[in-house]
Amino acid sequence: MQKLEKTTPTDYDIMEEIKTRWSPRAFDDEPISESEVKLLLEAGRWASSSYNQQPWRIIYGLKGDAVYDRIMECLIPFNQDWAKNAQVLMVTAYKKTNKDGDDYFHALHDLGLFMGNVVIQANHTGIAAHHMGGIDQEKAHKTFGFTDDFGIATAVAFGRYGGDVKQLPESLQEQELEKKRSRMKIEEFAFNGDFKPKQ
Ligand SMILES: Cc1cc2nc3c(=O)[nH]c(=O)nc-3n(C[C@H](O)[C@H](O)[C@H](O)COP(=O)(O)O)c2cc1C
Repeated sequence: MQKLEKTTPTDYDIMEEIKTRWSPRAFDDEPISESEVKLLLEAGRWASSSYNQQPWRIIYGLKGDAVYDRIMECLIPFNQDWAKNAQVLMVTAYKKTNKDGDDYFHALHDLGLFMGNVVIQANHTGIAAHHMGGIDQEKAHKTFGFTDDFGIATAVAFGRYGGDVKQLPESLQEQELEKKRSRMKIEEFAFNGDFKPKQ
């Protein structure tokens, strides 16, 4: 199967692992092993976090195991329709209270740094990730036994690049095949001076 590649029109020459990353909804059907998942989590583990509090907590399931099915049950139907192509599913959660028992304002930020490491490490080894906000958070919280001081953030689907778009419902195939990725220009979000609202 020809691997679908996207065009990423960068203005500066960034590293390949960032440039070639994108979020497929179709994945190759080659399984991902538990040790490959551990490699991704190892990359996440070394992310920085406020006071090194490491608020991230991850539930992971491999296709064919019960955890995978239990995570699938927590996804909204739109995501279930394509995430069934994934070889690994994760639920990401974060600690809501800090070391002093107060609101841990930076917890989601720190979980984001963790996941940033995970997806770039994944891309380095040919594994793609697709984040999902579309998860029933309350259900996932209960299903996996989280206590009140933890919140559910996302689910994430992983699989190798190179899936057949025909795995997808027709409504999603066009977006999957779209070649060009787009982003705001740097000047629209970064200022060497005062903030300027986006036009
Ligand atoms: C926090 C977060 C939540 C997302 N939720 C969903 C989702 O529920 N379903 C989905 O299909 N894509 C979801 N996405 C994927 C984004 O739409 C995608 O990352 C974005 O369009 C940029 O595309 P790229 O990752 O290929 O560069 C989510 C991404 C993030 C970071």
